[in-house]
Amino acid sequence: MAVRITPSILNADLANLASEVGRIPSADFIHVDVMDNHFVPNLTIGLPVVESLRAATTTPLDIHLMIADPDRWAPAFAEVGAESVTFHAEAAHAPVRLARELRSKGARAGIALNPATPVEACATMLGEVDMVLLMTVEPGFGGQRFLDLVLPKIAAVRALVSAADLDVWIQVDGGVGRDTIERCAEAGADTFVAGSAVYRSDDPDATVRELSALGEAAFARCKH
Ligand code: DX5
Ligand code: ZN
Repeated sequence: MAVRITPSILNADLANLASEVGRIPSADFIHVDVMDNHFVPNLTIGLPVVESLRAATTTPLDIHLMIADPDRWAPAFAEVGAESVTFHAEAAHAPVRLARELRSKGARAGIALNPATPVEACATMLGEVDMVLLMTVEPGFGGQRFLDLVLPKIAAVRALVSAADLDVWIQVDGGVGRDTIERCAEAGADTFVAGSAVYRSDDPDATVRELSALGEAAFARCKH
């Protein structure tokens, strides 16, 4: 099974987004971090920028909503053509209804968990989503240090997905790079956000390809 690399543009040059996404043609999705200064202590970009980005690239968009009240705001991201929309379990009021609404609008639906949130928060939702995003840093900023304590959670979600024989992607986000991607893949992650590792490297696309090869080999080494 091929793993996926979904680079975050948070550390890209945000005044030149179209050319920045053009630097990573090997990316499987472009990961867009939407923050509202309520759910997380930072403010980034929103729907109008995502809409412009959708028109500027053919690479699928992976929207990570770190916002309060995703029930209200998330569906619009599916409506403007985002291929994947992920909301936080800690923020959603009616996650089953929201996941169904996103899917009905043609998007993949994802549910995200902060590092301290137990896997039980998504366990009952696995049949309703296309992806579980496990935060490997506290959400809000790029360039933070990877939290090893999330590794057992990756394995736990992988076990649940395998036991139910579901095709749910397991994404990790935060501090993922050359030094950490293999541990994540060995634990069972198959979809990798990398922000600073990609955009702070001299050759972002070569880094995407390198991470993909490392993740693929590590995922294949372990029987999931
Ligand atoms: C953090 C964001 C991440 C971030 C990752 O809250 O959700 O997507 O951009 O950046 P790195 O890879 O630098 O940790
Ligand atoms: Zn993210």
